[in-house]
Amino acid sequence: MTALRERVDKAADFIKSRTKVKPEVAIILGTGLGALADEIKDKEIIPYPQIPAFPTSTVIGHAGQLALGTLGRKSVVAMQGRFHRYEGYSLEEVAFPVRVMKTLGAKALIISNAAGGMNPLFKAGDLMIISDHINLMGDNPLIGVNDEKLGPRFPDMSQPYDRKLIALAEEVAGEEKIKVQKGVYVAVSGPNLETAAEYRFLRFIGADAVGMSTVPEVIVAVQSGMRVLGISCITDECLPDALKPADIKTIFKIAAKAEPKLTKLMSEVIQKL
Ligand code: HPA
Repeated sequence: MTALRERVDKAADFIKSRTKVKPEVAIILGTGLGALADEIKDKEIIPYPQIPAFPTSTVIGHAGQLALGTLGRKSVVAMQGRFHRYEGYSLEEVAFPVRVMKTLGAKALIISNAAGGMNPLFKAGDLMIISDHINLMGDNPLIGVNDEKLGPRFPDMSQPYDRKLIALAEEVAGEEKIKVQKGVYVAVSGPNLETAAEYRFLRFIGADAVGMSTVPEVIVAVQSGMRVLGISCITDECLPDALKPADIKTIFKIAAKAEPKLTKLMSEVIQKL
């Protein structure tokens, strides 16, 4: 057994010893987009530092926790706090919790993020269903010794985002009268925001939105056979020829404002899975 699978099993065994919840759905929420986790009922909380082999937080006081319980009729596990490449974690660490949640039984991953909108038709506050992605992090969570029990060495990526889940999200958005865009998400390492030339380049290569997360977790989820739905909250308009200085406070404010519709969309989708 590889050292990685040993760590995954150790973390999963510990969580199983602490809760009876057998999650069907895994949830990872973006910066300022965490309200869905507050709606989990009969909630059991496990702080990350208690979980053996889990990545340890570099930021004191922001360790994060797993929340297990039920959302409507579904058993779920949600990460409250995620790991980012720019904090210094390797991508294997960033995506480690996905492997643990899969081992706990989760067959689907619902993941959100805050992202810069480069498609000129997108407005700050829009939601974008991710149709595909580009990995420009310059790294990959699957680099290293491969354990076939965790997934194949060369996983297919022809359709990382599940077509049926995309259709379901569009259907729910229509029913709930939530405006949604659809497009390609490109992941960069960050932490600086992009230059105008970089936004121009990222748009040119086919991306609609840019952010600093999600892709490592999705690659690992797909490798392990999970169905994935990803939704970006467009927090700023990144048009290279009309670029204003990015203001992180405004980005948080826009995310907070768009959050209720994202939470509604995700919780309805989870009910209908
Ligand atoms: N770039 C990268 N990440 C982001 C952005 C951006 O413009 N906006 C929100 N997250």
